[in-house]
Parts: sequence; C-alpha cells; structure tokens
Amino acid sequence: MSKDVIIACDFQSAAEVFDFLDLFPEEKPFLKIGMELFYAEGPQIVREIKTRGHRIFLDLKLHDIPNTVEKAMRVLSALDVDIVNVHAAGTRRMMEAARNGLTRPDGSRPLLIAVTQLTSTDEESLHRELLISESMDDTVMRYAENAAAAGLDGVVCSPLEAGKVHDRCGKSFLTVTPGVRFAEGDAGDQKRVTTPAEARELGSDYIVIGRPVTRSDDPLAAYRRCVKEFLG
Ligand code: C5P
Repeated sequence: MSKDVIIACDFQSAAEVFDFLDLFPEEKPFLKIGMELFYAEGPQIVREIKTRGHRIFLDLKLHDIPNTVEKAMRVLSALDVDIVNVHAAGTRRMMEAARNGLTRPDGSRPLLIAVTQLTSTDEESLHRELLISESMDDTVMRYAENAAAAGLDGVVCSPLEAGKVHDRCGKSFLTVTPGVRFAEGDAGDQKRVTTPAEARELGSDYIVIGRPVTRSDDPLAAYRRCVKEFLG
C-alpha cells in the first residue's frame, strides 16, 4: 500500500458525512470512521461510504479476550474495510487472534494496526494509575514490537515516533500518524503536532487529519493542500 492522507470523519450522523463528501467532486479520499459515527449509524454507514468508492480505516480500537476479538474481526472483514485496529495492550495473543479473524473468502484481508499508548495518556498516569514503570517512549516501542511479533501490519503513533518505529520494526511496518496541522494552524487539543511535510520527512506512511480539513472554510482546498504537502 502506498502513502496517503486519511481524513478523520468525526461527524455525528450519516447526513453530515454525506454533505461533507459531496464537497469532493473528483477525489475519493481515504476516510477514517471512528466509534462516534459507527455507533450512531451502524455498519450500514460503512457499506454506503464503500459504495461511493472510498477506502476506509475503521477505527474501533478493539480490546477484549482473544476469542471475542477474533470473532469481531471476522464480522468486520465482511464489511470490506481497508484498515482496522486493536489496542496493543490486549497482548500478543489477542493481536494474533485479531489477525486470525481477518479472513475473507477471496483470500484478501484488511490491514491490521495497533494503538500503542493513547496520546491522552501521560507519563504520570502511566506510572501512577497503570503502574507501568517504564518510560512512555519505551512502552510505545515495546508495544510496537509486540504488534510486529504478532503479525500486525503497523501501529498508530505520532509522526515524531515514526522513524524509531521503523528502525525497531522494519521499514514496511506501517506508521499511521494523527496529530497533523498546517504550519499556521491552531493545534487545538493535539499536543505534539507536525505539518504534513514534516510527517513525510519523518517517515509517516499514512497521516490522519481531521479538523484542519473538516472544519475548514474550504475542505476541498485544505485536503488538496495536505495531499500536496505530504505526497510532494
Ligand atoms: O481533528 P484531528 O486532526 O485532531 O483528528 C485526529 C483524529 O485522529 C481523531 O479522530 C482522533 O481521535 C484520532 N487520534 C488521535 N491521536 C491518537 C489516536 C487517534 O488524534 N493517538
């Protein structure tokens, strides 16, 4: 799979998503659908967006016992999505089960990536609440290595971690990176941000960008700018 820009479709209803997608007359952007939209509209929203010709990263971050995750992945495979994900904290066995669940009659399967540590978890909660004594950086890298050992295709991480993840897990191990902002843009609640061009230089394979595109006065222009900066 080649590098690309993924738009985070953080909308609350199908109507809002379709109004947004109508702004793209030529392109068929790669889209990320998260829990909010999926739980509001159900699997049908995925099928409808697929019918329009978009690739989809279904960001549901599964985390349960291996048997349950394997069966859930079997269901998600049938939705014909392109990327799905789990929490690496579910352990290697759970990630292997997730991978086993991804089967389709034609032999294809979605890419499977892992969330390492959520960016909302800070070092303090890592040590004091979760009782993980290692540093955030070491934890993220170890989780990435666990994901690679379990046969996953990559991880969600910061563009700032992409190079190190590639060094540890191999160049073909995908880094899917949120936290992207235009140079003059407002970072909002994202703490460690990079521009699309910086993300490219740091080795990100896919950048995930939401509000700078979805809340722009001109989403099409913002998306095209992001693609141009990231893909060169
Ligand atoms: O609007 P914004 O560009 O911040 O959207 C980024 C998207 O990536 C959101 O859907 C957010 O939930 C997701 N995400 C993130 N940081 C992570 C994992 C996912 O921002 N570590």
